[in-house]
Amino acid sequence: KKFKIAVIPGDGIGNEVMAEGIKILDTFAAIKGDISFEYQYFPWGCEYYLKTGNMMDANGLKVLKEFDAILLGAVGDPSVPDHVSLHGLLLKIRQGFNQYINLRPIKLLPGAPCPLKDKGPKDIDFVVIRENVEGEYAGVGGIRFPDMPEEIAIQTGVFTRKNTEKVMDYAFKLAQKRNKFNKVTNVTKSNALNYSMVFWDKIFKEIAEGYQDIKTETNHVDAVSMYFLQRPETYDVLVASNLFGDIITDLGAALQGGLGFAASGNLNLEKEYPSMFEPVHGSAPDIKDKGIANPIAMIWTAKMMLDFLLEDPDTEAIIEAITGVLLEGKTLTPDLKGNAKTHEVGDAVCQKLKML
Ligand code: NAI
Ligand code: MG
Repeated sequence: KKFKIAVIPGDGIGNEVMAEGIKILDTFAAIKGDISFEYQYFPWGCEYYLKTGNMMDANGLKVLKEFDAILLGAVGDPSVPDHVSLHGLLLKIRQGFNQYINLRPIKLLPGAPCPLKDKGPKDIDFVVIRENVEGEYAGVGGIRFPDMPEEIAIQTGVFTRKNTEKVMDYAFKLAQKRNKFNKVTNVTKSNALNYSMVFWDKIFKEIAEGYQDIKTETNHVDAVSMYFLQRPETYDVLVASNLFGDIITDLGAALQGGLGFAASGNLNLEKEYPSMFEPVHGSAPDIKDKGIANPIAMIWTAKMMLDFLLEDPDTEAIIEAITGVLLEGKTLTPDLKGNAKTHEVGDAVCQKLKML
């Protein structure tokens, strides 16, 4: 089967790591023999914005809709305000294509550096399901009396029953599928957010009723931040709102060796629209154009795209190949105390994959 992939390399290191994601896809396809990928590149991002005044074309969603999946590097540049780049491209695609699940695995691979000295790969292996189209990032609000002493900023969270139910339901299904502890942790803050998060907890309880085989636990988000450091081994699947999920997954990324390892999928489970796959990291202006960005997050992201398109257990070999390169320790980027270039790490992972 041939898959049509829309590729948005984006800005900064997004561009640099994308090539390595494509490399792994082509290597995997060559090994399998019966699949292939057709890529179309879109030059959207901050550079495009500076030239055209738009982060993406006005008919962008219409064009992207025809693809099987979207692969994105990262967007963001110091010369464009971050809320412009985020809302003009990423959030447009996530929300416009109803990619209501943001799937973020937190898994420490053997050989990856963990800041917790007494924890290892067995302890850090969980998944955060982040609500991805509404909540605190719904974009509802306004400014009253701008630049006056009375100025007021209002930002409203939006939580719908239909969407919250679907997100919770996916978390329980994933816990069943993982079959680790058969447990879902509800990340909340219902002590302070007395409408949205009380509602969130209520839906969690309702959905849990339908999954008697799955244990549940409810933790406030501030406590989760502490428990990630103290007892990460107790987690299996966590479900969190858009904002809370965003924050705790960067903390999770640190546990698995840094942003160079954090992969994510923005999923529309019904496949009414294409899903989008992107590393969690941003465009990293501090290291751009040096060719030293860690491509592992992008490679892992490509693997997640394969999982969504194919449901083929052979994709695990990509994780094994990454692990092989980590354990060997010869070809690592500077964030992992090595001196290899981005493309050398990509080549090394592909080489390992071919040998598995
Ligand atoms: P960032 O993720 O770009 O960088 C944070 C730190 O981690 C930097 O020191 C960077 O060098 C390092 N880092 C990140 N990815 C790395 C990799 N693959 N290899 C080695 N080191 C890596 O986050 P920051 O600095 O907050 O944001 C920079 C820009 O990226 C901003 O414009 C922001 O809006 C945008 N951004 C975009 C995202 C996206 O497109 N999904 C996500 C996060 C930020
Ligand atoms: Mg983030």
